[in-house]
Amino acid sequence: MSEALRGPVLAANWKMYKGPGATRVFLDRFVALYPAHSDRSVVFFPSAISIPAFVADRSGREDLEVGIQDVHTEVEGACTGAVSAAMAAEAEIGWGLAGHSERRRDFGDHDATVGIKLSRLLEAGLRPILCVGETLEERRGGLLEEVLSRQVETALDVLESSGCGPWNDKVLAYEPVWAIGTGETATPGDAAEAHGLIREVLSRRAGDEPAATAKILYGGSVKPGNIEALLGADGVDGVLVGGASLDPDSFARICLAGSGR
Ligand code: PGA
Repeated sequence: MSEALRGPVLAANWKMYKGPGATRVFLDRFVALYPAHSDRSVVFFPSAISIPAFVADRSGREDLEVGIQDVHTEVEGACTGAVSAAMAAEAEIGWGLAGHSERRRDFGDHDATVGIKLSRLLEAGLRPILCVGETLEERRGGLLEEVLSRQVETALDVLESSGCGPWNDKVLAYEPVWAIGTGETATPGDAAEAHGLIREVLSRRAGDEPAATAKILYGGSVKPGNIEALLGADGVDGVLVGGASLDPDSFARICLAGSGR
């Protein structure tokens, strides 16, 4: 894992969009629009099959980091279609998502499964982003705090019992499920509240300093038009962007937020 992160983290989750060809087309334009900045981190999570094209075509722009969207809970085995964290590390992938809500909803990743994936990513030397967030039903039921605590605490419990060592330089993403791909964005106030709750859990579990220095990204319908307000919210240290990261112009505008360009 590379050194401690400076500045905001701007992450693109491409989900199951962009094969190798579309990845190259995106990069051709994006590298021209977004020059390297040392005061922020930009990370792409392409489809696993497009990662080699991403790495080959980023034109020496190693500031454009790359991550894997999901890994299996096993290191290797008879798991057709899956990729392990160890394999991702061997392919020089630096980051990995654990617990994206689409994995939780569509692939049955429970809190404990997410904890195992987090452990595997750390063991392999990748920098994980632990994703958490409540559904609309949970929010309406007044369960925001309970859900966020359960998701973070369970992941930390599994991590501790896995014996895989400390999770330094924590990065998490708060992604309210109701705001993902819906055009519905949490207000900066909603984001600040949820990030504060997550930091309370981290502080209880790991102490004040690791809680204060953890990076907590916001995700859910982030766009060029709301990036400044979201990055300005208390405790928001970056963003995890789906739809608006697929277009090079719009993601470049997001990555340039607050840079004076
Ligand atoms: P969205 O997705 O920006 O399209 O809402 C965010 C995510 O799922 O990470």
